[in-house]
Amino acid sequence: MSAIAWNDELELGLPLIDEQHRRLIDRYNELAAAYRRREPDDDLARRLGILLECAVVHFNSEEALMATLGYVGLDEHREEHQDLLQRVRRFQTALTEGRQTITLPVLQYLQHWLLGHVRGADRDFARAARRLAADALIAQPS
Ligand SMILES: [Fe+2]
Ligand SMILES: [Fe+2]
Repeated sequence: MSAIAWNDELELGLPLIDEQHRRLIDRYNELAAAYRRREPDDDLARRLGILLECAVVHFNSEEALMATLGYVGLDEHREEHQDLLQRVRRFQTALTEGRQTITLPVLQYLQHWLLGHVRGADRDFARAARRLAADALIAQPS
């Protein structure tokens, strides 16, 4: 499983969000590298837990920013976040109970989700955020 390389397509122009996306991708890359090194399941599970924590923090700040700006797509976007968290948590439970192991398809799913979500739903939000912020600026009394 190859690492995700940061590229312009992932840069959304919202500094806090971009920074958190970089961190999230770093955590994913660390997990994928540990998988390639054939680290024991316990270590992989721990790294997945770190990735999950990082995702929770990031999703919360993204959703808070959406609420502040009055973004109409918030509910739909939150559902995408919740869907991933639910899947990863369910998987993590199976992992700790020894019913599952981290496999290539699991990493592929995570990579696919991260890239698809940032380039899709997050990019849509970034575009709307710039517009909403500009509108707010114009509406301000001078
Ligand atoms: Fe998002
Ligand atoms: Fe995001």
